[in-house]
Amino acid sequence: MKTINMKHNAALALVALLMCAGTRVVFTQTGTQRSPVAPSRDQVQSVINQAYEKFKSDTGGKNADYIPALAQVDSKLYGVVAITTDGQMVSDGDIDSPFSIQSISKVFSLALAMEELGPDQVFAKVGSEPTGRPFNSVEAVADMPTHTGNPFVNAGAIATVSLIQAPSADAKWQKILDFYSKAAGEKLTLLQDVYKSEAETNTGNRALAALLLKYERIYADPLESVDVYTKQCSVGVTAKQLAVMGATLANDGVNPITHERVIKKENVPEILAAMTMEGLYDGSGGWAWHVGLPAKSGVGGGIVAVVPGKGAIAVFAPPLDEAGNSVKAQKTIAYVADQLGINLFSPRSVGLK
Ligand code: DON
Repeated sequence: MKTINMKHNAALALVALLMCAGTRVVFTQTGTQRSPVAPSRDQVQSVINQAYEKFKSDTGGKNADYIPALAQVDSKLYGVVAITTDGQMVSDGDIDSPFSIQSISKVFSLALAMEELGPDQVFAKVGSEPTGRPFNSVEAVADMPTHTGNPFVNAGAIATVSLIQAPSADAKWQKILDFYSKAAGEKLTLLQDVYKSEAETNTGNRALAALLLKYERIYADPLESVDVYTKQCSVGVTAKQLAVMGATLANDGVNPITHERVIKKENVPEILAAMTMEGLYDGSGGWAWHVGLPAKSGVGGGIVAVVPGKGAIAVFAPPLDEAGNSVKAQKTIAYVADQLGINLFSPRSVGLK
């Protein structure tokens, strides 16, 4: 049966005509789009509950401790949320506990830089090649022809921040926070303790910025850029807010809760491509192989995976693997993706069995 998405108030006469012709019309709220082969709310709820029960006692991994404040976070916290592109939510566990967004922020700073400069400029100035190295690798900066690598490793992310236009570092930080808040549909704030802890210990990131200066691949003051970057990593989000941010990408750049356009439609595919190739750093190849969804991790324990036209899944669970990706979040999303048949590389994802 053919399914067509339509905005409200659009030609009721046409609806009647199509119904007579045996075509099912799916009404969506204004500004949202839902794939005709998206799993039902009940299916998603049931699989999320199963995943939660299956992995809640998993003790694999260890909290990040190179940022001292992250070592203090309760390792048992575990929350799973899915938001669909038509604004439905299903969840289990600790979905309202704020945690630092960390590297997941890099997706939304990339989106902001692309809004301002356009994708070609950002691609030229940052690049999008996987490094195959840890997220904070100095060797990758020295070895890669672009030096910046991609917008998700620390060096490329600091360069991306340096591209965002503002009259001062404070104005730039405010602009970034406002942009993230629009994607989350709620006002987000800085977790002061995380920011302080990271700012006191991020000599590695300052060294990366200095190296970028040597290669002429940073486009504003290096130390100021590192400071704004450190603030963006210290933004607090809940699993619920993170899922809305992901669902905004799944919904072609329109927040499915507020219906506000946040990201230009034409920039979304490039952002999702970058997430597929580099979102889990040196774990990205294995993730693409096993799960097949664009995703981004952060050392705060969050991962968000995007299912274009269907929704997003966000998981928060602090213990990480060697690459800095949450162990439980990876297992949860892998299980949900498999059970729901949403791996983008599988014909099941477009409704073929
Ligand atoms: O710069 C850092 O090291 C952190 N603020 C962010 C690193 C991160 O989240 C890597 N992700 N898995």
